[in-house]
Amino acid sequence: MKCMEPIQGLSKARRKLWGNPQNVISWAFMKQLREHNETRKVYACNPYIEVYQFRDNLYGLFNQNCDGAGDVWQWLIVGPEKCLLVDTAFGLGDMKALVDEISGGKEIIVVNTHDHFDHAFGNCRFGRAYCHESLVPLLEAQNEHMWDYLWDKKTGETIWLDFDKKDLPKFKPYEIIGVPDGYTWDLGKGYLVELINSNGHGGPGASMYLDHSNKILFPGDNICSDISGCGNVSYPIEECSLYKYRECVRRLVSRIDEIDAIFPMHFICDLESRMLEDVLECLNAILEDPEHNYDFVTETINPNDVNGPKRIRFSRYIKGFSIISYSITEKEEPPVPSAIRALSK
Ligand SMILES: [Fe+2]
Repeated sequence: MKCMEPIQGLSKARRKLWGNPQNVISWAFMKQLREHNETRKVYACNPYIEVYQFRDNLYGLFNQNCDGAGDVWQWLIVGPEKCLLVDTAFGLGDMKALVDEISGGKEIIVVNTHDHFDHAFGNCRFGRAYCHESLVPLLEAQNEHMWDYLWDKKTGETIWLDFDKKDLPKFKPYEIIGVPDGYTWDLGKGYLVELINSNGHGGPGASMYLDHSNKILFPGDNICSDISGCGNVSYPIEECSLYKYRECVRRLVSRIDEIDAIFPMHFICDLESRMLEDVLECLNAILEDPEHNYDFVTETINPNDVNGPKRIRFSRYIKGFSIISYSITEKEEPPVPSAIRALSK
């Protein structure tokens, strides 16, 4: 039985081991894209990242995940005067040189969707990163040992992905600037990108970014063709992360004329925005009765904590798309910085 047959991509890194099997539709999309897309390119300054062009000024920087979870996108918008980079992955290879080469050396504005390993560990490659103000303390916990869990302590070999240790960043403190919901950046000549505080995946500081010119929404990990893990349920329900995320989706649906396409951070991208209405319908059904309005239950391992306790997850299908998965917990736990979680693996 075939399961995640290797994709013949151009990245220098080689996959050794995966965590949980990934969704077959996502895998088929990535196989076609990575093996046949005419825009795919690898630059000599960073042989780990495959670059794909999706619009005149929008580039997808495809990174293989350094641990066993799904491969990850970074999105680069090249504006008239400045460029904006959504997320920094694990920081593998010289990312700054790559962005400089694609943008022609324009000033780089780095923003984060959330602080997870595969989204923000590369921040220190850049001198400054912006995020929602609630995310600042999580990013401040980053440290020089946060990548150590990628190595087997006995053999000294990487566990999941084969790459050169010297190509990860040497951690150095960088400026972290928190901004409020609705903050916008001007990339020149009125080219605006807006931060939308989403909650959900990544906690209270998680954010989406809306490119007003291309009418593209970057939703972080809240929308994903594999599994959309966009918050959990606890009581009182109005205080839980899934409920707060639903409020965000309601606002997005009310602004649907401002959004043409959705580019998540993993797997299938360039989704039509009409799917937001189906996401809202799914969230409404779950929140009406989380303990019964699911389609199936699974016990999963956390790919970032394979020896940890199994998680009971409830899942409900989003019409025409993937699933929303959630746990039901007694109370809402504040997020632990990924850079701290990494130390205990
Ligand atoms: Fe992720």
